[in-house]
Amino acid sequence: MSEQIKTTAEYIRTATGDYRPEVGIILGTGLGDFADRIEAAHVLDYKSIPGFPVSTVEGHKGRLIFGEIEGRRVVAMQGRFHYYEGYGMQQVTFPVRVMALLGIRCLFVSNASGGINTSFRTGDLMVITDHINLMPNPLIGPNMAEFGPRFPDMHNCYDKELIARATAIAEREGIKLQYGVYVGGTGPTFETQAEYRYFKAIGGDAAGMSTVPEVIVARHMSIPVFGMSVITNCGLSDEIGDHEDVQLQGRKAGARMETIFRALIREL
Ligand code: HPA
Repeated sequence: MSEQIKTTAEYIRTATGDYRPEVGIILGTGLGDFADRIEAAHVLDYKSIPGFPVSTVEGHKGRLIFGEIEGRRVVAMQGRFHYYEGYGMQQVTFPVRVMALLGIRCLFVSNASGGINTSFRTGDLMVITDHINLMPNPLIGPNMAEFGPRFPDMHNCYDKELIARATAIAEREGIKLQYGVYVGGTGPTFETQAEYRYFKAIGGDAAGMSTVPEVIVARHMSIPVFGMSVITNCGLSDEIGDHEDVQLQGRKAGARMETIFRALIREL
């Protein structure tokens, strides 16, 4: 696996004329529009990258975009790999390791999620302050010691300094933020009412099907992470989860999320 990661990173380095991104960005469901506004220097379709899995889910383009945001070099994943698509955890997290080898020193993650905290409303933006992992851990298996320790610490997974800066930016821009714990399940089913109540009881504020594996792997490598969820539905109300709604709410809140991401990147 570690050889494949190196080979893929080497391929990308050559294909992009040794473009060195400082920041990695993973854009979730309905949030891909942001990537279209990157001043792109190189765009690579996942299917053209040796070793890369290929995205299958509707609403996800599958490409890696290299370019500048606010004058800083970034690499953005427009579309991610989900465990529920049938990929193994090694595949789900493969791009994060590759981005690390390309030199990112900070990872921004985003997703669509279901609100569990009853004070949340559809369309809210939640800063992820911590997570609960209910998926298989992506670090199960022989430890790749060149990337990090066998038993990585998961305190402060979500960088406190970046959260504080996001708070200041949101105040300045008049953007309302929620804060909370993201519960990552496998999907692809949305939760039952009993499961939403269970997620609430164990301390969750939002439920989703992604992000946690990538964050664990980034933290294994000690890369600082900033994460945001768009609350696309409220799990404990009577409404029923629906993929189209998730995409629509994602796009609407995406503009506010983009403002926060841009300002954070500018100030890094
Ligand atoms: N549960 C899990 N994942 C989700 C949800 C949800 O309610 N909404 C959007 N992604």
